[in-house]
Amino acid sequence: MYLGLDLGTSGLKAILTDETGALRGTREASYANPHPHTGWSEQDPADWIAACETVLDGLAAGHPSDMAALKGIGLSGHMHGATLLGADDAVLRPCILWNDTRAAEEAAALDAAPGLREATGNIVFPGFTAPKLLWVERHEPEIWEKVAKVLLPKDYLRLWLTGEHLSDLSDSAGTAWLDVGARAWSDRALEAGHMTRAQMPGLVEGSAEGGRLRDALRARWGVTGPVVVAGGGGDNAAAACGAGCFAEGQGFVSLGTSGVLLSAKGGYAPDPASAVHTFCHAVPDTWYQMGVILSATDSLNWLARQTGRGAAELAGMLPERAEGPGDLLFLPYLSGERTPHNDAALRGALIGLDVAHDPAALTQAVVEGVCFAIRDCLEALRGTGTELTSVLAMGGGARSRFWLEAMASTLDLPLQVPAGGEFGAALGAARLGIAAATGGSPAEIMTPPPVGETIAPRADLVPRYAAAWERYRALVPAIRAAQAD
Ligand code: XUL
Repeated sequence: MYLGLDLGTSGLKAILTDETGALRGTREASYANPHPHTGWSEQDPADWIAACETVLDGLAAGHPSDMAALKGIGLSGHMHGATLLGADDAVLRPCILWNDTRAAEEAAALDAAPGLREATGNIVFPGFTAPKLLWVERHEPEIWEKVAKVLLPKDYLRLWLTGEHLSDLSDSAGTAWLDVGARAWSDRALEAGHMTRAQMPGLVEGSAEGGRLRDALRARWGVTGPVVVAGGGGDNAAAACGAGCFAEGQGFVSLGTSGVLLSAKGGYAPDPASAVHTFCHAVPDTWYQMGVILSATDSLNWLARQTGRGAAELAGMLPERAEGPGDLLFLPYLSGERTPHNDAALRGALIGLDVAHDPAALTQAVVEGVCFAIRDCLEALRGTGTELTSVLAMGGGARSRFWLEAMASTLDLPLQVPAGGEFGAALGAARLGIAAATGGSPAEIMTPPPVGETIAPRADLVPRYAAAWERYRALVPAIRAAQAD
C-alpha cells in the first residue's frame, strides 16, 4: 500500500492506494492561511503537522490492514514557501507562502544580479524562496541570524515523518537557488541570495528515495515493515505525475487557489523574459514549463467572502452553459500577478459595473477573468515555442461546467475531463511513492487518466471570448496608471 500526501494551500489531502494507484481511502484536513498585511500570506507549519496527524490517524483507524501493509509515501506541496529552522530544527517564524509578495524589492534586485536568470532559468519572482530570505535579513535580523536550514513546505512535513533534511528537484527549482538545467544547487545563486550550502537540504529526484518513515510513526499507525518516503514533488510537478504529462505538449490547466497552465517539455528550454516558469519535473532528466496566475479559485473565494455566500453557492448561480462573455470584466490580480506581468503591485479590478449587476453577474465576471488570465499564460507559453497538444482540466474550479466551457472557448483548445477518481497532485505523490519503493519505471506507473469527456471550444463563442480577452488585456496599462504609487 502507498500514501500520497498533498499539502495544499487550504488543506492537506491524503490518499491511500494499492500498487496500481487504485484508491483505497482518503482523508482531508484544512488549516488557515492568514494574510496579516496587504501582500502577505503565511501559514503556521505546526498546522501542517497537526493536519497530517489527523488524516493519518484517521486512515489508520479506518483502514488498519491497508496501513499495516504500507510500503511507500509520496509528498506533494505548495511550492516556494520559506520554512525557516534554527539549529534545533525549531520553526523560527510563520512560513512565507508562494502568493506572498512582500519581497518584491528583493526579488527585483536578485533578478537583476548578473547571471542569475541564466543560472536558475527563471525570473526571480517575489513569491520564490530566495527573495523572502533577503527580506528576512533586512527586516527580521534577529531571525536571520538563527537560520540553520530552509525547507520547502512539503519538506518540513518530510522532516517530521523521517527526521531528514531533504528536498526533491521539482520543488527546489522554485527557490531561485537551484541551477534548473544542471539539477543541483547553484553556488552563484546561493551567493547572490546570501545563503550557504549548509543551509540547504540534500537533493534527490522526486521518484527516488528521500528518507524512511520514523519507527515511532510506524508504531502509531500500525505499519509492519519499512516505509520509503519518495523525494516527491512541488504540487504542479506532482499533478503532472498524476495526469501522466511527460511528453512535449502534454499538459493541464489547473484551477486551484492558483491557476496554472502547464506543458511537459522534451528538454530544458528556459525563457525567463517571458515570465514563463521552467522547472525540473519530478522524474529524472525531464522538465516542464508553466504560466502561473496567483488568484484562480482564490478570486471566487474572495467574492464569496464579500457576498457572504459560499464559493459553491456562487458557482451554482452560473448559467448552465457558456453562451458568451458577460458585459462585466474582472481582472483577477488580487495578489499581484506572475505570468505574464511579473508585477507584485498590480491589483485587480471590476470594469463596467451596472446598477443591475447581481452576485451571479459578478461570479460570471470572476470566472471569465480567470479564463482571460489563463489565456495570457497560453500566449506566454506559445511565445517560448511551447505548443500544448493535449490539455486536461483539474482543480476545484474544474467542477464547474460553465467554467470549463468558457475556458475551452477562451483558449480555443479542447479540454479533457478525466472520467473520475483521483488524478491530481495527491495521486501523483502516491505514484512517486510507488516508484521510489518498488524501483518501477515512472512511465509505466504514471499513465494519463481515462478521459470521461472532451469539452470542445465552440466556433460561435471563440471570436466573442477572443474579443473580450482583447478588451481585458487593454485594461492592464489603464489599471496600472490608475493605481496610487
Ligand atoms: C507555482 C505556484 C503555485 C503553488 C501553489 O509556481 O506558486 O501553483 O505551487 O499551488
